Amino acid sequence: MTRAKKGIGDRYQTETKYTRDSLGGFDFDVERAKPFKEYPEAERIFSLPDSRPESRAAFWEVLARRRSERSFTDSMLSFDELALLVFATQGITAHYKGYLFKAAPSAGALYPIETYLMVNRIDGLPKGVYHLNIAKNGLELLRTEDMAGQLTAAALGQSMVTHSCVTFIWTAIPGRSKWKYRERAYRYIYLDAGHIGQNLYLAATALNLGCCTIGAFFDEEINSIIGVDGVNETTVYLGVVGNIK
Ligand SMILES: Cc1cc2nc3c(=O)[nH]c(=O)nc-3n(C[C@H](O)[C@H](O)[C@H](O)COP(=O)(O)O)c2cc1C
Repeated sequence: MTRAKKGIGDRYQTETKYTRDSLGGFDFDVERAKPFKEYPEAERIFSLPDSRPESRAAFWEVLARRRSERSFTDSMLSFDELALLVFATQGITAHYKGYLFKAAPSAGALYPIETYLMVNRIDGLPKGVYHLNIAKNGLELLRTEDMAGQLTAAALGQSMVTHSCVTFIWTAIPGRSKWKYRERAYRYIYLDAGHIGQNLYLAATALNLGCCTIGAFFDEEINSIIGVDGVNETTVYLGVVGNIK
């Protein structure tokens, strides 16, 4: 029997394995470990409301009800609903000994994932591209154009991007994790993104909204929409949310 040729994915899996003689150490690097990015040049920052859900969604029922939804009505999402979705995915839930902790877990509490939003229909927010400023709990407005068409094309033409109220664009800053985990950091980055994606699904379901995460996209097209270089920071995952049709 001939063995299938090993592709880069197989090599990646092998070369990022921990073995008993390849664990190594690391030097703590506070600057690289800084767990959030800011855009001081953003033309405006919209503070997120400190929203609390009106009803207590039953956890097990939400889990059973979660589904990928891809068809949305034309109605808007409220700013409060958006704030809850942001909280579920990136909200700070604790401070301990100088570290911050968020709603979704992260390897080494290093939080390599950043959030950008492409807003289509959020009550009180102009259409455009925003970056989530974690420190200020606000949305930094980066671009005011309607990017729905371009973002849809970049997501392999998946029309749910155009019809949703908002698209979450999650990037990774590998350096935030690599100083500690070296090449294995890439595994953790994707696991972190998966946790964040699931939190978005569950929060959307609890709010009776529809959500679908997206892994199929032209990486460099999304990177250029949000203005990141694809090396020091690169898109890893998307998620759309809207009102279910
Ligand atoms: C990593 C990942 C990438 C995905 N990418 C896409 C995508 O590009 N387009 C899409 O329509 N659904 C995408 N999905 C949603 C899956 O198709 C969906 O989760 C799967 O069909 C199971 O259905 P459920 O989520 O309703 O349980 C993705 C899901 C995951 C976890």
